[in-house]
Amino acid sequence: MKAKFLVDKEFRIAKVDDRVFGSFIEHLGRAVYGGIYEPGHPEADKRGFRKDVLKLIKELDVPVVRYPGGNYVSGFNWEDSVGPVAQRPSRLDLAWRAVEPNTFGLDEFMKWTKEAGTEAMMAINLGTRGIDAARNLVEYCNHPGGSYWSDLRKSHGAADPYGIKLWCLGNEMDGPWQVGHKTADEYGKLANEVAKAIKLFDPSLELVVCGSSNNQMPTFPDWEATVLENCYESVDYLSLHNYYGNRDGDLPNFLACSIGMDDFIKSVVATCDFVKAKKRSRKTINFSFDEWNVWFHSNDADRKIEPWTVGPALLEDVYTFEDALVVGCLLITLLKNADRVKVACLAQLVNVIAPIMTENGGSAWRQTIFYPFLHASKYGRGTVLDVKVDSPSYESKQYGATPFLETTAVLDPETGAITVFAVNRSPTEALELEAVLGGFPGLKVAEHVELHHADPKAVNTARKPNEVVPRTVSGKAKVDGEKLTATFGPLSWNVIRLTK
Ligand code: AHR
Repeated sequence: MKAKFLVDKEFRIAKVDDRVFGSFIEHLGRAVYGGIYEPGHPEADKRGFRKDVLKLIKELDVPVVRYPGGNYVSGFNWEDSVGPVAQRPSRLDLAWRAVEPNTFGLDEFMKWTKEAGTEAMMAINLGTRGIDAARNLVEYCNHPGGSYWSDLRKSHGAADPYGIKLWCLGNEMDGPWQVGHKTADEYGKLANEVAKAIKLFDPSLELVVCGSSNNQMPTFPDWEATVLENCYESVDYLSLHNYYGNRDGDLPNFLACSIGMDDFIKSVVATCDFVKAKKRSRKTINFSFDEWNVWFHSNDADRKIEPWTVGPALLEDVYTFEDALVVGCLLITLLKNADRVKVACLAQLVNVIAPIMTENGGSAWRQTIFYPFLHASKYGRGTVLDVKVDSPSYESKQYGATPFLETTAVLDPETGAITVFAVNRSPTEALELEAVLGGFPGLKVAEHVELHHADPKAVNTARKPNEVVPRTVSGKAKVDGEKLTATFGPLSWNVIRLTK
């Protein structure tokens, strides 16, 4: 099979906001307890932070981590999670029907972000709580001192303000499962008032208002329109969430789900810009795709979990090689929408639908999906080029015409290097690529990395952590002047780094 693409130096989509490579830690399952925090583990530091897990997170270079939920945040009393640990209450978490001991909380998370080399994206409870708890939380975190809440933080040992820039105004408030679920109008009005209070404290803080929980919600996209009618001028970003699965074992259809993600983003662009036009506003709302991933493997197991324990093994998807290809396609799609998607969080980071898995008391390892995320985070920072693709396609059940080649290219404006990310969706045929790199003479192939496994269902486990790993291939990519030729094997994720 043959495919072509054309890029030109003059045609660019946008500079990538580094926060597109964000992730998410929720008080859910073993993300915190047994994941990032496990006092007594041989790899734990004196605060209980697992150093083996930190090492893998640093490898991914995650610029921002959303916290503490998720559904969890809608019943979260942030005051329970600060100050002397011995005095903190245990609470029932109604979202995940677990016990939350609060031995790791906001104060610990902020210390942990320093170790992980990341920044917090803090979610506010707009389920059971409102403006008062929100303004107190922001004051606790960000005010230098001389007020009740900021002095309380100082008395807890944090002399300097946490300086959290990015805040989520609740989580999935359109979902009937949410504790404190609201109608779009109720939520939009509340979000507006909370946003106004936060901006009175510090207008430079960036606020994410909740969009729909996914594009199959019956209230999508009216939810977005109504919410924004209420708070357009007070917020900065609108959230998108979506998870993808292969429940009926239809691989060609599963591999096409990034087309669904692209359609979703385009629909939200249209909805936001409709409200912009209606309001005669000069401001454009951009997006925080703050929950995205593959999620379906653990659904049955989760139904059998005993409620009301600490750190139950919930949402522990063991990812296959085909899931890694899908995550690659989704990452390419986020990059192709870099003009509007400014923040994105792979949900989640450790144990819970995550690229990193651990055993309590045991090892930590990289799941298959770790690798496309690693490559995108490492080489996808720069300016996304507008890649015009001409590829043969197939019909997928849900998404219609689907090109075999999913691809994008990112230019590093400082070095002039270009990285091509590409997935060949064909299970049987190699793709022969011929690409024109218009206005980019003098590049050479520095590296071609491929992720492939003969078995689409292959997984990495504690016992076999390196079953699915990328490898450097040679002789499959070549540059001649402004022409790049490459071969992408059937079912493969490819990263071609072109340098001067
Ligand atoms: O990431 C898991 C859950 O998925 C989150 O708590 C919720 O926001 C979403 O429904």
